[in-house]
Amino acid sequence: MYSYQKNSRYFAQVADDTKELAATELRNLGAKSVDLTYKGIYFNAKQKDLYRINLQSSLVNRVLAPLLTFDCHSDRYLYKTAHQIRWLDFLTSYQTFAIFSTVSDSKISHSKFASLRLKDAIVDYFRSVTGLRPSVDTKKPDLWLNLRIHRNRATISVDTSGGSLHQRRYRKESVEAPMIETLAAALLKASGWDQSQPLYDPFCGSGTLLCEAYLQATGTPANGLRTLFGFERLPDFDPRIWKEVQKECHKKQRAVRNGLIAGSDISQKAVATSRRNTNILTTDRRISVQQKDVFHLDKLQGQFIITNPPYGIRLGRSEDLSHFYQRLGDFLKKQCQGATACIYFGDRKYIKHIGLRSSWKKPFTNGGLDGRLVKYELY
Ligand SMILES: C[S@@+](CC[C@H](N)C(=O)[O-])C[C@H]1O[C@@H](n2cnc3c(N)ncnc32)[C@H](O)[C@@H]1O
Repeated sequence: MYSYQKNSRYFAQVADDTKELAATELRNLGAKSVDLTYKGIYFNAKQKDLYRINLQSSLVNRVLAPLLTFDCHSDRYLYKTAHQIRWLDFLTSYQTFAIFSTVSDSKISHSKFASLRLKDAIVDYFRSVTGLRPSVDTKKPDLWLNLRIHRNRATISVDTSGGSLHQRRYRKESVEAPMIETLAAALLKASGWDQSQPLYDPFCGSGTLLCEAYLQATGTPANGLRTLFGFERLPDFDPRIWKEVQKECHKKQRAVRNGLIAGSDISQKAVATSRRNTNILTTDRRISVQQKDVFHLDKLQGQFIITNPPYGIRLGRSEDLSHFYQRLGDFLKKQCQGATACIYFGDRKYIKHIGLRSSWKKPFTNGGLDGRLVKYELY
């Protein structure tokens, strides 16, 4: 029996700033005994909950199912222990696999070397049992494995998501500085949008916030466009339960009224990209996108504005956008009475230039940038 089968305990990899939100999401999706730790969240789940979490979570990057945890003071011991796993439970010689490793505070100090030794063990296992070996494919493998060695304790896990869940598959194209999908989902959850007030993104770029808002408002599974999940490779995968979960989720989906979610961007290319992306989720054009300079927009009174304006780092050069943010503050003050605005600042030095009193500020990093989501009630 593998560890996850003995204790039904899994590990969700989650960005640090979104851990609390992700813990709530996991509980709502059926996870029990949810414990926040470094780099993620441990939780208990039945098979059905595991499938549901992978299908519906908008904040989790990957869910790992641990196979084995052991003391690991040398690469020889890693090889020997990994060689004893019955890899045919997960893979055939004709399929492909990939390994992602992290090492910290351990005798084995290089993650690439750790991956290499685990790969050798798997390949040699197959050679000795079948005479053939599976290949490595780091882009689209049949099986994703994770190896973590921390303080000389190693855990080998199957990635039950089958690659990072942030890749929702609606974003076929993107434009300048697209926001990672899981961050957009987290900003929406943190913003307090009640899903009934009309939502508007005046700097919509490739439409990530609009798409995530649509997924949340309609109850559409965030990862519903994925054709294969890693849990389908587990030896106890139950296709009947998986079908049930899909059916249940499908039943809970609801329509949204036209005009609930809309956005604009100054760039024609961004608008075309946004339209293409949003149309993948909703063919009946429930999300409207127009080409418009924010400063030429009609009033946005009473709307819920959530947006990610340009933050000035382009092609490695830094531009000064102080005046731009001052104008944006004036626009919000004069044209958006009765609205709520949640502005994501990729560069927090611009917060002061908006010149409005905020209700709160929350830290959310974006690709290494120390950004802030700031909420304003506009009277
Ligand atoms: C940081 S990007 C937004 C990225 C978006 N959240 C996404 O996920 O793709 C900022 C966007 O602001 C747009 N923009 C810049 N100046 C603008 C203006 N004056 N009015 C409207 N849009 C503008 C840019 O074309 C760009 O698409």
